[in-house]
Amino acid sequence: MQIDLDYADRHVVVFGGTTGINFGIAQAFARQRARVTVASRRQENVDAAVAALAAVREAGAEVHGVVADVRDFDAVGAAFAQSVQRFGPVDVLVSGAAGNFLCAAQAMSSNGFKVVVDIDLVGSFHVLRQAHAHLRKPGASVIQITAPQSFVPMRYQAHASAAKAGVDQLTRTLALEWGGEGIRVNSISPGPIDGTEGFRKLMAPTAEDRAFALGQVPLQRFGSLDDIANLALFLGSPYAAYISGALIPCDGGGALESVKPALEAAGRRGPGAAG
Ligand code: COA
Ligand code: NAP
Repeated sequence: MQIDLDYADRHVVVFGGTTGINFGIAQAFARQRARVTVASRRQENVDAAVAALAAVREAGAEVHGVVADVRDFDAVGAAFAQSVQRFGPVDVLVSGAAGNFLCAAQAMSSNGFKVVVDIDLVGSFHVLRQAHAHLRKPGASVIQITAPQSFVPMRYQAHASAAKAGVDQLTRTLALEWGGEGIRVNSISPGPIDGTEGFRKLMAPTAEDRAFALGQVPLQRFGSLDDIANLALFLGSPYAAYISGALIPCDGGGALESVKPALEAAGRRGPGAAG
């Protein structure tokens, strides 16, 4: 179920917006009549996303796709120049391109660590840095897509945990630096979102893992694309006009549950807890 907010004549750029969670966000904005630019590395993903968005968009919405790898600073700059020429200054920027794989730290190559940091952290800097000149001032909303491992370390994700922690500090730092220009910068931290590459690859590669992951969510269900897209629609809107520098989990309470085993292992219990 999607909330209803009118984005007519607003330009929304979604980096990494061609599949999964970020595509769900792009789709939600297209349904709210925005002018949507999606960007990612692979031409086939860009083409497929543009075609799918064209099929769901409401009257007035327009869609544009650009191929750019977030690791390439100049390519990211060219992507903004091209999209702004077509749709005007950027009202909402979603930065969500990421890569990840499970690997124990002692088995990870230097390049394996570096590639994830380059995409998730350096790539986010490239996107926000190149966007700045094109953001509507005042009024723009920047939304970074982070992950729970930015604040709850996860085994076999040393690279992504470190990179996403950096993404969150980038959010906070730029909220400080850009607040005076009327630009808000926030992070969304999705929980396990069913049907996505990240969920399948990292959290639920097997049926057993899937059942375990469900047990970690206090609300007892996996998230949907709309759960995340609704928060993005809200953060991009004037209803969120006084929210900046925030990291907002959208995870059914899952991040709370992940710290429990560590506390229990340390023998610490809350007041009134049994045992
Ligand atoms: N285990 C251990 N190391 C791995 C690995 C794995 N599963 N997958 C990749 N690597 C290592 C490679 O061996 C290589 O290191 P090396 O040169 O020392 O051998 C390094 O990572 C780069 O791999 P490469 O395949 O060249 O990178 P890429 O730029 O083509 O792809 C990834 C980037 C690896 C992050 C790829 O998984 C990707 O494109 N992911 C995007 C989608 C995604 O992960 N979505 C999930 C949600 S974020
Ligand atoms: P996904 O479908 O793999 O989406 C990743 C997107 O980024 C794709 O559009 C991909 O397209 C693009 N991308 C990857 N590398 C890129 C690069 N170097 N340059 C430009 N674009 C690049 O993954 P997802 O699971 O939906 O995850 C989306 C975001 O949510 C990520 O930031 C992830 O960390 C976060 N997240 C996901 C979950 C979850 O449950 N899935 C949970 C927490 C956080 P191309 O391949 O065409 O480049």
